Amino acid sequence: MSSRENFGSRATVIMAMAGSAIGLGNIWRFPFIVGEYGGAAFILVYILCCFLLSLPIFLSESIIGRRTHQNTFGAMSTLAPGTAWKWLGLLTVFSPLIILSYYSVVGGWSFAYLCKAVTLQFKPENAEAVTSMFGQFSTSTWGPLVCMVIFLGLTALIVYFGVNKGIERFSKISIPVLFVLIVLIAVYSITLSGAGEGVKYLVNPDFSKLTPDAFAAALGQSFFSLSLGVGTMLTYSSYVSKDENILVSAGGTAFFDLLFAILAGFAVMPAVFAAGIAPSSGPGLVFETLPFIFAKMGSGAQIISAAVSILFFLTILVAALSSSISMMEVGVAYLVEEKKQPRHKATVLLFVVTLVIGVLCALSFGTLSGVKLFGNTIFNFCDKLASNFLMTVGALLFSVFVGWKMDKAAVRDELTNGGTLSGVKKLFPFVYFLIKYVTPVTIAAIFLISLFG
Ligand code: TRP
Repeated sequence: MSSRENFGSRATVIMAMAGSAIGLGNIWRFPFIVGEYGGAAFILVYILCCFLLSLPIFLSESIIGRRTHQNTFGAMSTLAPGTAWKWLGLLTVFSPLIILSYYSVVGGWSFAYLCKAVTLQFKPENAEAVTSMFGQFSTSTWGPLVCMVIFLGLTALIVYFGVNKGIERFSKISIPVLFVLIVLIAVYSITLSGAGEGVKYLVNPDFSKLTPDAFAAALGQSFFSLSLGVGTMLTYSSYVSKDENILVSAGGTAFFDLLFAILAGFAVMPAVFAAGIAPSSGPGLVFETLPFIFAKMGSGAQIISAAVSILFFLTILVAALSSSISMMEVGVAYLVEEKKQPRHKATVLLFVVTLVIGVLCALSFGTLSGVKLFGNTIFNFCDKLASNFLMTVGALLFSVFVGWKMDKAAVRDELTNGGTLSGVKKLFPFVYFLIKYVTPVTIAAIFLISLFG
């Protein structure tokens, strides 16, 4: 194990983990769901979900990863030798690759839109055409494919350089830059005339919208946003050295992820309302509504609107990349450690595998839109399979494993660094209670309700 890399310091652990967490989920998904489910009231529920349900899952993955310093499969096989738990390890080698396949399509769109912003295609005179641009682009064949290959290629390139020279170095630069960019965009957005309505949309608590669905949505969003349930944080935690405090790294990551999501809300929604547009969800918000707004604003100060549009798509691209590398690393760690492949070979192999599924996902907006799996296009099928099933089941099983299968003394030892962290020692009974009872029961209940309800 001596050749295995570790993250360099506490700061770089949190940067890398925040890099995985902060991504498309924060920028387009979060702002929209907040409005849909009751603004500030939903944010409160979301914060509770993050810290009472998702953080225990995060800690479960961290405990398994840091205890063994191994990939997901190796970790489960070491902690529960000769049991079926190794299949959870193997499953979580594959689930991030499914997410990576469709995530890369959206990553590719971000790259394409960054190019459009740089070549000043969002102009006031073609504001109307800008909205239909996305439909034309995403249903075409070559553009989305080429951009996806570029995005996946960049991902593989960073992963190829390894944990220290690739992932850590990239996240160390990208995370601070992302925070500066999103603050700049939020300041700009809030100062637009008519932005007040957008701010209200985010901060007005509307408790009547807090339906049971809202709780399921908050939980799902926090899993996705914190990259939980598919072994990503397990793998990253396996690169954390024995003297770090994993409660601090997990808590710090959750804090920065939440902060970024809220800042993204203030970057996006005030601009949407200032332009007098009803907020739409998903890709429509980022790739139709916002370019339209950038184009409209161009009539005032073209340079500023061009600059903001470039910064915005750059932010999305970098945030998506720092997440996609974490998905690829899970499989690379497995191939290197279990199958004894050299890192470069493992990276190329996973690049090719995700490329094949990614091509199908990219084409499912146009050429292959008629191909349906259980009534969904290939892209939507992969998204639903991952978000509604793989992540929830994985999260549930990781917490059950740590709460019920692992020795309590081992869990305490790992969380408190052999009893040396006195603060964590005091919190341990509470944290253990969350991991053992609260989290699995709540997740199972929400999962069953959403499956049969
Ligand atoms: N958390 C990232 C986002 O918000 C996406 C992500 C990265 C992810 N790794 C993951 C999601 C693993 C689920 C599982 O965009």
